[in-house]
Amino acid sequence: MLVIGAGGAGMRAAIEASAAGAHVDVVCKSLLGKAHTVMAEGGIAAALGNVDPEDSWQAHFQDTMRGGQLINNWRMAELHARESPDRVYELETYGAIFDRTPDGRILQRAFGAHTYRRLCHVGDRTGLEMIRSLQDRIVQLGIEVHMEVTLTRLLKDGDRVVGAFGYNRIDGRFVAFRSKAVIIATGGWGRIYKVTSNSWEGTGDGVAMGFDAGAEVLDPEMVQFHPTGMVWPPGVRGILVTEAVRGEGGYLTNREGKRFMLEYDPKKKELSSRDVVARAIYKEVEAGRGTEHGGANLDVRHLGAEKIKKKLPSMYEQFLKLADIDITKDPMEIAPTIHYAMGGLRVEAETGATTLAGLYAAGEAAAGLHGANRLGGNSLSDLLVFGRRAGAAAGAYVREVGLGKIDERQVAGEQQILLLPLSADGRENTYLLQQQLQQAMQDGAGLAREEKSLKSCLDRILELRQRSARVHVPGSRKYNPGWHTARDLRFMLTIAEAIVRAAIERRESRGAHWRLDYLEKDPALGRVNFVAYNEGGHVKLKTRPVPEMPPELAKLFAETGPTSTASPPPAASPPKAQQVRR
Ligand code: FUM
Repeated sequence: MLVIGAGGAGMRAAIEASAAGAHVDVVCKSLLGKAHTVMAEGGIAAALGNVDPEDSWQAHFQDTMRGGQLINNWRMAELHARESPDRVYELETYGAIFDRTPDGRILQRAFGAHTYRRLCHVGDRTGLEMIRSLQDRIVQLGIEVHMEVTLTRLLKDGDRVVGAFGYNRIDGRFVAFRSKAVIIATGGWGRIYKVTSNSWEGTGDGVAMGFDAGAEVLDPEMVQFHPTGMVWPPGVRGILVTEAVRGEGGYLTNREGKRFMLEYDPKKKELSSRDVVARAIYKEVEAGRGTEHGGANLDVRHLGAEKIKKKLPSMYEQFLKLADIDITKDPMEIAPTIHYAMGGLRVEAETGATTLAGLYAAGEAAAGLHGANRLGGNSLSDLLVFGRRAGAAAGAYVREVGLGKIDERQVAGEQQILLLPLSADGRENTYLLQQQLQQAMQDGAGLAREEKSLKSCLDRILELRQRSARVHVPGSRKYNPGWHTARDLRFMLTIAEAIVRAAIERRESRGAHWRLDYLEKDPALGRVNFVAYNEGGHVKLKTRPVPEMPPELAKLFAETGPTSTASPPPAASPPKAQQVRR
């Protein structure tokens, strides 16, 4: 079996599949351990109830659904809330060491829009601890990891995925994997935007590869702006400032020193959901109350130097080293940064199976759990819960099927695409096109969108797509980052087009999708997800009814209680939506 991606989801899937007896190859385009997972710094959300005993899986489920504005897949949210605690305890058995309560249990902190203190954490380095523990486990189990390999095409035998093809990043050698099942765990696509917390790997490869092969992409328009990224100096713009800063009691203030979240969400204040906080910062800046470099201040000085250094050691170091700011003495300047894609491959809740036989997805590359907005900390629990499920399901699948046939024409076709930029006498510069795409997405499909900006962004994408066919990259396949970027660009353009097409059609504001020309929610659109699919190489769009919640869970939203602050779930009858072929 082949697992593409070696962040938390990929590694957890590989561990499970290997335990089920499958031979597993893990492929990652970077180095093992270098994954966006480490950017979930503040914690793993799981209703252990160690600090707030009233917490329960039901409360976690409700928070997740409400955060996602009820277009989530309820079954994924249920499995996630029920299974996260076991996955956290299991991670301890792999060697993760969490911060503790005075009586020795796993300590949990507050985070945005979680009703209870629920985030199991290791200071502000939780994702790193998770990756370290999973990596140790992978090494112990002897699972083979192929580093610095980029896979660019899924290989199919009829309708079934039977392997993948790509190249070795160091010497440019082509590589092919023949495999009974493939799990996509390649994370998200933050690099499609100019300002992002994502590192260079986040170009949406896995999802675009799945799309190219015929899998469906759900909710592409839902792109999360984390409210707090670094702003200054320019070289560090977008780097994450963990939500744990607010979880530990940090305040957001505008240039007038006013704690503006008291107005935007008097109840949850700085710990409102990410979409709400990001919009509040945007509005403050628009109103002329932004900081010097167009953001807000995040202030922890009142917590005291000792607590800051104990609970937020990475933030202390990050600002000292990158911005020459001692956060025990001065506030941090922050602004929203693209952090996470709620959209991704459409999967079955229980198994992570995509709409293509033999193809599974987990973690950020899969969609459904988070709906229109993900709550902080739910990504780490997501990748443990659904990485394990995808690994188990794919492990069972490979026991039932034989190896498929590799179609040499598919391999030759992809080789041709890969080699074109090296041989073409085109004039286009791949880095320039990538930058232009990032700028277009930032300007046209960013935090605040409207029909006009989205349509001009789409025109720009289509123009860049045409120009990308004329890219020329000097040099050979050896050690050639320009050549890698040329292939990434194709993936990025596909995903960008899906994002923008869906964003145009969702004529309402919901969660992370904020339309200045449609500020309210449209109840009819609250009952559908948008799905992008490939028709003859073109990005097409259709809708699908949001899965209907069973009465026993829908009832949770009717009851009054501490988490009952949002509108009720969608009515049972689905709206008029295009039927889905599956
Ligand atoms: O702010 C953070 O630490 C990020 C957490 C997350 O994205 O889950």
